[in-house]
Amino acid sequence: MSEPGIGNASADFVVVANRLPVDLERSADGTQRWTASPGGLVSALEPFLRSRKGAWVGWPGVPGVEVDPFSDEGMVLYPVTLTAEDVRDYYEGFSNATLWPLYHDVVERPVFDRSWWESYVKVNRRFAEASANVAAEGATVWVQDYQLQLVPSMLRELRPDLRIGFFLHIPFPPVELFMQLPWRAEIVRGLIGADLVGFHRPGGAQNFLWLARTLVGLEPSRGAVGVRSRPGLMQVGNRTVRVGAFPISIDAAGLDTLARSKEVAERAAQVRHDLGDPKTVLLGVDRLDYTKGIDLRLQALHELLHEGRVRPEDVTFVQLATPSRERVEHYQRMRSDIEQMVGRINGEFARVGHPVVHYLHQSVSRTELAAFYSAADIMVVTPLRDGMNLVCKEYVACRHDLGGALVLSEFAGAAAELTSAFLVNPHDLDGVKNALEAAITLDPAEGRRRMRALRRQVLTHDVDRWARSFLEALGSEPAA
Ligand code: ADP
Ligand code: G6P
Repeated sequence: MSEPGIGNASADFVVVANRLPVDLERSADGTQRWTASPGGLVSALEPFLRSRKGAWVGWPGVPGVEVDPFSDEGMVLYPVTLTAEDVRDYYEGFSNATLWPLYHDVVERPVFDRSWWESYVKVNRRFAEASANVAAEGATVWVQDYQLQLVPSMLRELRPDLRIGFFLHIPFPPVELFMQLPWRAEIVRGLIGADLVGFHRPGGAQNFLWLARTLVGLEPSRGAVGVRSRPGLMQVGNRTVRVGAFPISIDAAGLDTLARSKEVAERAAQVRHDLGDPKTVLLGVDRLDYTKGIDLRLQALHELLHEGRVRPEDVTFVQLATPSRERVEHYQRMRSDIEQMVGRINGEFARVGHPVVHYLHQSVSRTELAAFYSAADIMVVTPLRDGMNLVCKEYVACRHDLGGALVLSEFAGAAAELTSAFLVNPHDLDGVKNALEAAITLDPAEGRRRMRALRRQVLTHDVDRWARSFLEALGSEPAA
């Protein structure tokens, strides 16, 4: 495919997501620069879209700025403006204080606010219009995630010539929870504007098919949906809508190569040295989000130290936490709880110059992240609910040495694939403690056996395979 020019109706392949892959950052002195956007959606899609030379429609991450379309190493980015009010009501409100907690098992109580819903409708229309202007005749438009669930139908009305796909990057909830949403039928009607609606797991697809029958009166097929196979089918007017499961992944080969570089190996050794060369380095890497179970892993560590099952001079726990959604109340509360726990553990168990927990409320570069993964003996991934979780796959991709161990929540989508991890129920604190202790005392040969199995899975199921399988099912890509 040739590189798309910047202009109206010129792109054959368009990704539409709430965020662009880069964020505009403005400093106090008025200068501005582009930085990588946070989160798994961007980590996964960005390398794919770059290789595909597609267009990306999204928000540049700050309110009230108008930015012209621009090229970025093979991609063309089309910024959509959000006002400060849109950010408050559509993004922080409906997307992140209503849909996010509702779709994550109501870990926090979702807020239902009519004015937020109105803003969600308005902003979804703006994204649909922007995409309609960018896509060439007959183009494929791939709409991403919970912030834009109305876009497929709105876009189809504007541009019936397009092939439209939708992928949900977060879990699709159990039907009992989805039914709480006052605008439940509108959301389902929004999604069925797509030709293919994709979820991480067959369960999500199955739930959606049930809702389409119950709320919209469609008659979906009844067979079980498979992974990358046997999508559900529904007739919507004269169109057939497919509903399938496509577990997302990472650029595994790229990360494997990076982790093998001299720079990463040296930095990993330096990190361990800077930490005081402890026997065991435990690592957590997350956006600072209440779904990630950061508090649980800290509590488990605290109890293990308290009970003397782990000695403070033997272990160091590093938690990297990307700042996230800082104006949403649920997030503010969680941050202060976590920071209090870090203070408490260090207060009780640190020695001068040797904190037990190193907490960095920062985003780090890809190279630095690969070094942390390479340095960590145990990767601790304990979400209460997570659509997939890419961090655990990234860790595995970095362990070409077959070192390290992965403690992983059963409630991350990745658990269905990474069965050689130490799988834990994050609600069962004793279970988490036992798994951490088992990982700390793991026999190296057993560790290598587990890591080999994990790597086989991650390296053969990368993001390219995810995207190709979705686009083949959408009918915009020839079958392999
Ligand atoms: P989510 O999409 O909910 O944030 P994922 O685990 O799927 O969760 O993806 C998170 C992505 O963000 C990963 O690619 C991970 O490497 C990246 N990430 C998380 N925390 C940090 C951090 N502190 N610095 C840099 N990257 C981070
Ligand atoms: C998750 C969501 C993405 C979102 C990302 C970062 O990965 O699925 O849609 O972009 O988190 O969150 P933010 O609110 O900062 O965009």
